[in-house]
Amino acid sequence: MNSMVENARRTDLERIEALLNAAGLPTAGVAAIIEDFRVVRDEAGRVVAAGVIEWHAEEDREPDGLIRSVVVDPSRRGQGTGTHLIEHLKASTKEDLYLLTESATGFFRSLGFESIDRALAPPALRASEEFRCLCGESAAFMRRLVDSDMRNAP
Ligand SMILES: CC(C)(COP(=O)(O)OP(=O)(O)OC[C@H]1O[C@@H](n2cnc3c(N)ncnc32)[C@H](O)[C@@H]1OP(=O)(O)O)[C@@H](O)C(=O)NCCC(=O)NCCS
Repeated sequence: MNSMVENARRTDLERIEALLNAAGLPTAGVAAIIEDFRVVRDEAGRVVAAGVIEWHAEEDREPDGLIRSVVVDPSRRGQGTGTHLIEHLKASTKEDLYLLTESATGFFRSLGFESIDRALAPPALRASEEFRCLCGESAAFMRRLVDSDMRNAP
């Protein structure tokens, strides 16, 4: 399978929402950030994996990044596509990243994320719709901190 990660196009919205719906993940707010999504396509150009960093900013603070809407087509799971996509998202920023997940804690742990208390969430994330409404109280809150060497690297 072609596993090149690329930017989503506005015309990918319907397909990405269908993948999210099928996985039981929320689609609210997806249309507004569709062009920030990263996708993997199959040989026919059909989106088989998607995910995005949603940035939330408070005045006078750097924005905080929430990874959300990560999904791989069920027929393509277990082949490293999800890992490839998350590594790409991680490499796209030098900022700390956060996420909420109901069912993929082990997957994200293996990619360097740790579970932390929701009380430690940056205020801008706590105020986000994803945080307040979209992911149930049972969802794990996870974080991946960037060490200062990496942050200051050219
Ligand atoms: C979670 C998900 C994105 C993983 O994608 P994938 O392409 O199957 O992942 P990979 O093939 O890269 O798997 C990497 C490793 O994580 C493990 N893994 C995959 N999904 C997992 C899950 N839900 N929980 C725990 N471990 C998981 C795999 O077994 C594999 O382990 P291995 O290297 O020891 O074999 C995919 O299963 C999915 O779309 N799930 C439904 C939506 C979802 O839960 N999204 C996350 C919330 S935002």
